[in-house]
Amino acid sequence: MNSDDVQIIKKTWEIPVSTPTDSGATILTTFFNRYPSNLEKFSFRDVPLAELPTNSRFRAHASRIIRVFDESIQALGQDGDLEKIGEIWTKVATNHIPRKISKESYNQLKEVILEVLTAACSLNESQAQSWAKLVDHVYVIIFKAINDDGDAI
Ligand code: HEM
Repeated sequence: MNSDDVQIIKKTWEIPVSTPTDSGATILTTFFNRYPSNLEKFSFRDVPLAELPTNSRFRAHASRIIRVFDESIQALGQDGDLEKIGEIWTKVATNHIPRKISKESYNQLKEVILEVLTAACSLNESQAQSWAKLVDHVYVIIFKAINDDGDAI
């Protein structure tokens, strides 16, 4: 990520972060509709897909995902930003280890995150590339902490 990437990410992030829970809910709804087996890991697994957007536990998880991105994006461009982002995402990966989330599931979520952000922010090709660099970067951190089955390495 160069300084242009950082500027693009910070500027375009203002749109989805202005409605964090709705943005997170769009990501998670798309994720579970497209890859429903991931729902089995969640406490709200028995809630019908159509009712998820109004479920409080679902909404809490949706806004948490956005908060993790927001913390990372706020750190970008500051002294020690990559160390801070390393800490944030190592913690995410470590906290998820007991849930055994496979790399495939993480990659499914990654695809959806980039797609939803591209639509929400009307990203052009080059802006989408800047976002992909950030998401690829955090995924390197996650995958360093887990093996293919999501266990600790
Ligand atoms: C971009 C990647 C992700 C981020 C930023 C993220 C963030 C979070 C956060 C902040 C929490 C709550 C704190 C905690 O207990 O760790 C959480 C919980 C959880 N995450 Fe993730 N997560 C990500 C990917 C995934 C994926 C791919 C799955 C796969 C199904 C998943 C499944 C869960 C589950 C099952 C919980 C517990 C929630 C509950 O029981 O209601 N997460 N996640």
